Amino acid sequence: MHVTFTQSALPKSGAVAVLLPQGAKIEGMLAQLDKRTKGAVARAIKSEKFKAKTGQLIELIAPAGTSLSRILICGVGDPSKLAANDMERAGGRLAAKLLSGLEKAATILFDSVAIPEMDESRMAAHLGMGVLLRSYRFDRYRTKKKTENRPSLTRVMVATSNPTKARNDFAPLRGICDGVFFARDLVTEPANVLYPVEFANRTKRLAELGVKVEVLGEKRLEKLGMNALLGVGQGSARETQVVVMEWRGGDPKAKPLAFVGKGVTFDTGGISIKPAAGMQDMKYDMGGAAAVTGLMHALAARKARVNVVGLIGLVENMPSGTAQRPGDVVTSLSGQTIEVINTDAEGRLVLADVLWYAEDRFKPKFIINLATLTGAILVSLGREYAGVFANDDELSEQLRKAGDAVDEKVWRMPMGPNFDKMINSDIADMKNVGGRFGGSITAAQFLKRFIRNVPWAHLDIAGMAWSEKTTAIIPKGATGFGVRLLNRLVADNYEARDKD
Ligand code: BES
Ligand code: MN
Ligand code: ZN
Repeated sequence: MHVTFTQSALPKSGAVAVLLPQGAKIEGMLAQLDKRTKGAVARAIKSEKFKAKTGQLIELIAPAGTSLSRILICGVGDPSKLAANDMERAGGRLAAKLLSGLEKAATILFDSVAIPEMDESRMAAHLGMGVLLRSYRFDRYRTKKKTENRPSLTRVMVATSNPTKARNDFAPLRGICDGVFFARDLVTEPANVLYPVEFANRTKRLAELGVKVEVLGEKRLEKLGMNALLGVGQGSARETQVVVMEWRGGDPKAKPLAFVGKGVTFDTGGISIKPAAGMQDMKYDMGGAAAVTGLMHALAARKARVNVVGLIGLVENMPSGTAQRPGDVVTSLSGQTIEVINTDAEGRLVLADVLWYAEDRFKPKFIINLATLTGAILVSLGREYAGVFANDDELSEQLRKAGDAVDEKVWRMPMGPNFDKMINSDIADMKNVGGRFGGSITAAQFLKRFIRNVPWAHLDIAGMAWSEKTTAIIPKGATGFGVRLLNRLVADNYEARDKD
């Protein structure tokens, strides 16, 4: 999808869309449209049901007096409350409607939005972002050319009073969208295609944006002593990998921020094998690693003025004659020993070594990890919030604010010594499961044992990486959850700004 910005003018053909806040007058471009259609626009707006509420949409097909194919009017609700994410949602809803039509191009008239004190160009840019996010498709494995089922729309023009400024505001947002799409592609790929080595190969394209990418193979991981991670991959024919991505856009002396992702390219459960029903979902058990990779893309693409490292542990959890057994004891990189009671609690074993390595090697300002870690977090928070577990109130609060701003919401969960006790083992330093209750919390307590002295937050995104339903800006399937959230966290709290 091409999203471009043009000078405000009524197009002669194609589809035209306008946004309408509640109580807005018919003026500007909307008035012009109304005149051309001999009052049809005003009549439609005044119709019984249309209240310009968020998400309400009216559609005029082939309006008389014009050669336009359609006019869409999209309600955006209370004008005093409009924020960037409302614009994104409106853009997404319009995109969905337009994609189901036959037009090749559409124009969204943006300057007709009568919102006082609004940064029009910035809002127009966010509208474009919503269009882009909703237009995402993954078509790689469709070989039948059913063109009638493919959307014909390829271009959306946003008409606004200062297109040059809107274009500038849109440039970083486009980079963020590319990061989200990179993550969605990785999550959607099936596990026979995207195994650890292939995932690692795909991260190498970040080098074009100036990200340093380093791949650690099994030999190196053995030398380092990442036995908790390696134990998980022991039953797989595919080699385990760790990828280290570095973006240095800040002060060369400043400590980097560290992001760590769980990248289980497929989770069968191992010898503690999962039931067959729904197991295909476990191709998305690398959603944390995908988010970290997409985030690195987003930050580099918009040349973020900050130092960031992204580390991902890539591994396939399979049962086989060489697989790890329940009851095995492994010595992690930290030196702590782990009794592996359940081979399906593998994510924490992956993260244990990568978290330790990240803190040890980079001495970061903070560590945030993302993981599709527990089914239990779906029981607690459903598909509405990711769980946050943190040893630092400030970091947790920054995450909450960033999540609210970009519609990737997070909810803080409790931790404490009584939960920690639940993972004590009779024969080793700890065991990898804590019993029937509080499963997401005992998983977090486990991770915490691999953090020494740094602010840390763990995001359990098991409910968020994949969506069974389409939302305003996310087609059903891989969501890319975490990319926009963490990009926002970085931008709002950790980036150097121009002095002005
Ligand atoms: N990858 C799963 C968690 C998961 C479940 C992610 C559903 C996405 C959707 C994880 O490795 C796992 O199997 N966790 C177990 C832990 C248990 C064995 C302690 C679980 O949640 O059942
Ligand atoms: Mn598992
Ligand atoms: Zn898993």
